[in-house]
Amino acid sequence: MITRILNPEREEDINYAGELLRNGKLCAIPTETVYGLAANALDGKAVKEIFEVKGRPSDNPLIVHISDISELKCLVKEVPEKAKKLMEAFWPGPLTIILPKTDLVPYATTGNLDTVAVRFPENEIARAVIKAAGVPLAAPSANISGEPSPTEFKYVYEDLEGRVPAVIDGGDCAVGVESTVITLATKKPRLLRPGGITPEMIESIIGEIDIDKAVTEQMQQGAKVSSPGMKYKHYSPDCSIIIADISFEDYVKLINESDCDGALCFEGEEKFLNKKAVTFGKCYDGLSQAHRLFSALKELDELGLKKVYARCPQKRGVGLAVYNRLIRSAGYSFYRPESKVIGLTGTTGSGKSTVCKELKDLGFKIIDCDKLTKSGIYEGECLKELVNFFGSGITDENGVLVRKNLAAVAFKTNENTKKLNEITHPYIMAKIRSEIEKYKESGAKFIILDAPTLFEAGADKLCCKIISVVSDKELRLRRIMSRDNITKESALLRINAQKSDEFYTEKSDYVIKNDGNVEALFESVQRIAADVVR
Ligand code: TXA
Ligand code: MG
Repeated sequence: MITRILNPEREEDINYAGELLRNGKLCAIPTETVYGLAANALDGKAVKEIFEVKGRPSDNPLIVHISDISELKCLVKEVPEKAKKLMEAFWPGPLTIILPKTDLVPYATTGNLDTVAVRFPENEIARAVIKAAGVPLAAPSANISGEPSPTEFKYVYEDLEGRVPAVIDGGDCAVGVESTVITLATKKPRLLRPGGITPEMIESIIGEIDIDKAVTEQMQQGAKVSSPGMKYKHYSPDCSIIIADISFEDYVKLINESDCDGALCFEGEEKFLNKKAVTFGKCYDGLSQAHRLFSALKELDELGLKKVYARCPQKRGVGLAVYNRLIRSAGYSFYRPESKVIGLTGTTGSGKSTVCKELKDLGFKIIDCDKLTKSGIYEGECLKELVNFFGSGITDENGVLVRKNLAAVAFKTNENTKKLNEITHPYIMAKIRSEIEKYKESGAKFIILDAPTLFEAGADKLCCKIISVVSDKELRLRRIMSRDNITKESALLRINAQKSDEFYTEKSDYVIKNDGNVEALFESVQRIAADVVR
């Protein structure tokens, strides 16, 4: 079979794709998530061809794509209130909603289920093709079953050339991982596959949802799964991947000193590594990781790598989608350290100390970085460097630091503050490292690094996981005023001088929103502690 490459900018090419599809043939199309291999969703025979070309197990149902809300009624029996709200909020976009199907939808499309997965894509080319076809399109990702989904045209063509009559070249896919899949055919909405629309975004519209266990964990063989796709091998390159659930500093050591032949790391990290590295987005940036992940998996094989350690994405936000795909690519194999360092940070007055105390009661060892920096940093070499820059006025006649003198010059300008940090941070880091070593030697398994300036000091690089505590500004104001016995004005000054909540939350694996409810706080801490120690 000759595979025609279609140009989406030419109307006749879009019409040609529409005609093929209407006549029961296949065509690969771009969407904002990944490329899809499309066929008429209402034509059981056409749909069966998708399964054949992909080598996909026939009980793994397909997603049906529409280009207008009005097409819904031929697909689903009814649209409950919560589904309506989600459609209003996120359609067109990367969210797939599962609902009871009508008789018009063939069982071939739904893998014999009585429910159908529907998606209204945002990508204009996808919508134009659906319109041109005049029928809803069933479209799984356009890869051979088991392999990474294609997010660039060249990979679609590589996989499908000679197997389908046409493929549309729509460039790179914006999101990079497949749509979020949620079922509203159950009593409580349940997330079956994470994607670009995050659980947090969904919950802000319809309240609490369940997240299926299979999203973050390997299911036992033979276990009943909510979505057939969960039980199959997926996203696997030939290269064997092991997820390194460790700090960045430990990761660098692992790559440079172990027998692996490469790394799957975040952008900019490769310069610390002495082996071949493929990057997938930026650290703490789930969106950029999602965008790059599948191509990065392909590149591992292109480089001929056999065994790599991968950096571990965050299990929140879009990071959850990246994590979900990566654990499958890795066949659920993890490299975990003997002892874990967990960073604890957050805004002042948010209740970080309470969380810290909880964690201590639960058996975690605590390193108090504030206390650490107050003792034994501002002497010796560090003090010499400070005097060199800020002048001998910061010490008394015996050469001992006078704190308020240092504060007076160091906080006078932003430049000076920056310099102060530049000088002191390496000493602080060395001190923290030695505290961590001491705890490790004593056999401690879980160590909390309590550090208000965790990120600024670069101490996040020592942490395997990070928890941040944030809270409403009003609440923080009241807490700081009573804790430190200061006026509202001074408390406000302190709060306003701080970084935003997002500064902390976007870089954290766990976020505790402390709204003053002590029991809820307690529960969050316990839930996080249980997850961290696994
Ligand atoms: O972003 C996407 O959704 C892409 C693009 C092409 O739109 N499509 C896609 O389709 O990822 P596919 O077939 O690779 O993934 C469909 C997933 C599978 O995990 C399948 O098990 C699940 O959705 N699914 C479909 N219908 C279902 C149903 N009725 N009940 C439970 N799970 C369902
Ligand atoms: Mg797929």
